[in-house]
Amino acid sequence: MTIQQNLGHTQGLGEANSIWFKLSALSKGNPDNPMQTLQMMADRYGPVIAVNIADQRVVFLTEPEHFKHVLVTKADDYIKYFDGLKPVFGKSMITHDGALWQKIRMPQQPAFHPDMFAEYIPYFLQAIRTKMDLWSKLAETGESFEMVEQTWTLAADMICKALFDRDMPFNPHFVFKCVKTYTDVMEHKAIRMRVLHGEDGGNITEENAAKAMEIWASVPPAVFAQNPNEDRQRTLLKMIEAVVADPSVPEFDAEQAIDELKQYLWAGTETTALTLAWALYLTSKNPEAADRIRKEGETVYGDREPTAADYSALAYTRAVIQETMRIYPPIWGLIRVATKDDVIGGKEIKPGDRVVMFAYGAHHNPKFWPEPEEFRPERWMGGTKGQVKYSYLPFGGGKRSCIGGAMSQVENTLALSMLLRRFRPEYVGKEPPGFSGTVTLTPKGGLKFRIRELS
Ligand code: HEM
Repeated sequence: MTIQQNLGHTQGLGEANSIWFKLSALSKGNPDNPMQTLQMMADRYGPVIAVNIADQRVVFLTEPEHFKHVLVTKADDYIKYFDGLKPVFGKSMITHDGALWQKIRMPQQPAFHPDMFAEYIPYFLQAIRTKMDLWSKLAETGESFEMVEQTWTLAADMICKALFDRDMPFNPHFVFKCVKTYTDVMEHKAIRMRVLHGEDGGNITEENAAKAMEIWASVPPAVFAQNPNEDRQRTLLKMIEAVVADPSVPEFDAEQAIDELKQYLWAGTETTALTLAWALYLTSKNPEAADRIRKEGETVYGDREPTAADYSALAYTRAVIQETMRIYPPIWGLIRVATKDDVIGGKEIKPGDRVVMFAYGAHHNPKFWPEPEEFRPERWMGGTKGQVKYSYLPFGGGKRSCIGGAMSQVENTLALSMLLRRFRPEYVGKEPPGFSGTVTLTPKGGLKFRIRELS
């Protein structure tokens, strides 16, 4: 298959009209926790809040039953919203709805079936070992480093090796910075304002952001062009190539394949990386949890390589990942556009309304989670019995829920277990770390760490 590099139209600092720009007003309350403004609004004005932001009606939902209404019961009346993120995702599956979405998702779905995880694990482990070699050097020099950058490169390496049968044919640190230049949209508004007032916009300019997106667009063609590592037949990339060659699915053409890769390299890395970085922060602050993870690994797989069965047995480590995503859900809010008149919680919904399902708010609501600000992995040890349905949605819900959610838990559980067994990461940044609610819940200025190698 020849897949041409199509840079298409790139944008600079996102679309000023996109909801991500509009939501940047939220950080005015507590600049280190923009979620607080929304939590206070929900406490004061109830579970369905309709506001006009710059001529756009935005409806905030905070109740699990309303999440279910939008994501499941009336899923077809609420479509996806991706304005402002098109250069990141192209026209990949995540941006589509209805029959077209189904046609694109169906042929890729088997790559994410739990039966595949045992095949992927050796490749996840390869990537984790590469990371450990690098960490060993960082431990020797004692220098501090940015954890999200470290975990992003690990997540990208895991995806490339396991799902594409390729080594990363790009410099992950450089590409990471390019994507961040674009996706830290909240910063963009501030930059635009500074430039408007004749001030210095800093490193991120319209031109830089556009250039960053050009570099991003060049990544998928590089993946396709790279030689396979082992020519494995059951990989996501093989499934994508097969459907491109299938004349009965003309919609899934070579350009679609490029965009699918863009989607995986962002949706499958940014979120996984943030979860692991936040998990390392939480375990650095709760050393007893880190020790329990080490002991669990020692008991379950000892000195050999962990397998799929071992992953199932790593119950506490997995609980730490689940609790991390409750406290710091990488996707803090799910956004849809209403296509029909509707009523939610007694409030009218109009076609065109932007509906924001405030996942972070539900995850931190004491009605659903006793002492929600406490890091308590034990809440997950008895399974999910007793939890209010839809009060926890790190992976979304309904038919549009995350295709790679279960796989990311395998990646992160194994990575956390293996990294903590060999190293003691110490968080050395500002306490508590601030974060911004851009498209993802991102630590402000990153998460600075130093590490020691355990003997
Ligand atoms: C901790 C890790 C992850 C988190 C928190 C996460 C979160 C999410 C969420 C919340 C959605 C739904 C968005 C919505 O309803 O608007 C989603 C969709 C999606 N995710 Fe993930 N994700 C993770 C890992 C992954 C991985 C590893 C992959 C693939 C390699 C992936 C690929 C996708 C795709 C393709 C979709 C779109 C599905 C569709 O529209 O049918 N994600 N993810």
